[in-house]
Amino acid sequence: MSIGDNLFGRIQMQHLSVNNLIQWGDHLSVEHSGIDAQHKAIFGLGTKVYENWKDGGSLDVLRPAVDKLENLLKAHFSFEEQLLAEIGYQDLEQHAAEHRSMLAEMEMMKERFHTFKDGHESVGGSLLAPGWPIMQFVLGFTIGHVMSSDMSYCRALAASRDGV
Ligand SMILES: [Fe+2]
Ligand SMILES: [Fe+2]
Repeated sequence: MSIGDNLFGRIQMQHLSVNNLIQWGDHLSVEHSGIDAQHKAIFGLGTKVYENWKDGGSLDVLRPAVDKLENLLKAHFSFEEQLLAEIGYQDLEQHAAEHRSMLAEMEMMKERFHTFKDGHESVGGSLLAPGWPIMQFVLGFTIGHVMSSDMSYCRALAASRDGV
């Protein structure tokens, strides 16, 4: 192992666990059991991919997990957008635009996982390697989107359910 790996590689990042930063719980619920389950699955898999990569997991194993993460995201976004369309949610367009930009980000990360080769981390590798953006993405998805944008439709969804 080179000095570069020690300074910039996975070693230095071992303390950076997603679960130390955020944990799944009721505070993230949008009070729709289907959507909550989807959010939890995305958070769970994203966290798993990141932790696995950080612990030195092989990219060959991680790639299918990243592909699955993208599929979960796509399925969730279309489910959510369809539901919001059904209740006539007024901010749907802006909400869907956020989904699209997250999917574009996801696509870039996937590319990274597919083109990166094991053992090619160098100086600055922790930021260039494919696993690091996954953590930022999971946090962005959870705190940036679920906790703000998804929470915003929560009331409209409940109102439509109660027939208000
Ligand atoms: Fe959303
Ligand atoms: Fe969502």
